[in-house]
Amino acid sequence: YLDGLRGVAPTQPMDFAALEERARAALPDSVWSYVAGGAGDEHTQRANVRAFERHGLVPRMLVGAERRDMSVDVFGLRLPSPLFMAPVGVVGLCAQDGHGDLATARAAARTGVPMVASTLSVDPMEDVAAEFGGTPGFFQLYTPRDRELAESLVRRAEAAGFKGIVVTLDTWVTGWRPRDLSTANFPQLRGHCLANYTSDARFRELTGSDDPQRVVLSWAGLFGNPLTWDDLPWLRSLTDLPLILKGLCHPDDVRRAKDGGVDGVYCSNHGGRQADGGLPALDALPGVVEAADGLPVLFDSGVRSGADVIKALALGATAVGVGRPYAYGLAVGGEDGLVHVLRSLLAEADLIMAVDGYPTLGDLTPQSLAVVRG
Ligand code: FNR
Repeated sequence: YLDGLRGVAPTQPMDFAALEERARAALPDSVWSYVAGGAGDEHTQRANVRAFERHGLVPRMLVGAERRDMSVDVFGLRLPSPLFMAPVGVVGLCAQDGHGDLATARAAARTGVPMVASTLSVDPMEDVAAEFGGTPGFFQLYTPRDRELAESLVRRAEAAGFKGIVVTLDTWVTGWRPRDLSTANFPQLRGHCLANYTSDARFRELTGSDDPQRVVLSWAGLFGNPLTWDDLPWLRSLTDLPLILKGLCHPDDVRRAKDGGVDGVYCSNHGGRQADGGLPALDALPGVVEAADGLPVLFDSGVRSGADVIKALALGATAVGVGRPYAYGLAVGGEDGLVHVLRSLLAEADLIMAVDGYPTLGDLTPQSLAVVRG
């Protein structure tokens, strides 16, 4: 696999900057700016990435880390590594054939890296789940205003074999995204990525027609439910599957979620796409981990390399997600390109565990990191 080490120059990009450049060239402008962009002046998005540069791993010697173990037990599942693919609503459009959700699911099957499938999908969740092979998958719920529709989506996810429900809390309204606003570029408003709705009996009942314009208007009206803590018992009652809340960055919110019976918390600022002027997600992670007090903590926002994966794990994340990197892999090389990105992240993370002398995830603690000065 590591062609570079065998003297064969790989055709796929080997670092994030090259990946990003190639993705930009491969994607239509509208998809590129939707995926690459963020909220406001994109300070938070950049800060997410830079936060990793402020943390340095301290190498340990004479450990003999010839064998490494990246496996992790979470939500009753044994995963080969703590890496996962965060939900990306337009990933379907990143593939040449327009079916990127299916390609992502196939990449999950090939790598053992779980996919969190977004509610906003080109293909219905049942078709996505059918491609998972033996790799567990999770369903990400954007909670609609209609409770029956929310319940229907969760029932379908259960029936399709998803292993957990990730409820995203930070996107009941879409953030201020100048790139998209200035080009009137909202894929869902053009009818893209709505398959989970259009394939839903409850949605069809509410819409009352297959007229595309009617579908989009109904979707826009139903999309974001401004949930409050009073809704948490209802969310919890929706499923016996593991329930994970995405977008938690404040320790008090984490404690409240834990008291409300969730199975995991997901520290994320949506890759800086929802609100500018925010704390880098990595800086929120230690407080979230402490408040979670043993509950699994998923993390994403700003992870660009295997080293970043290791740093987030050292700060206490149970599992670490990537968004844009895998969407770019898909754009550049389809399913193979995506697999290449995941394998590169894992290979680099594994090599860092070897070189820096941390053979198991249990060896990685906040003391493995020091603040980078200057
Ligand atoms: C997202 N994200 C997202 N999150 C979610 O819960 N549901 C969704 O449908 C989407 N859609 C989406 C589209 C695009 C184009 C991007 C880039 C991101 C957020 C995603 O799950 C994750 O939090 C971030 O992508 C993580 O940041 P990085 O890895 O992109 O820096």
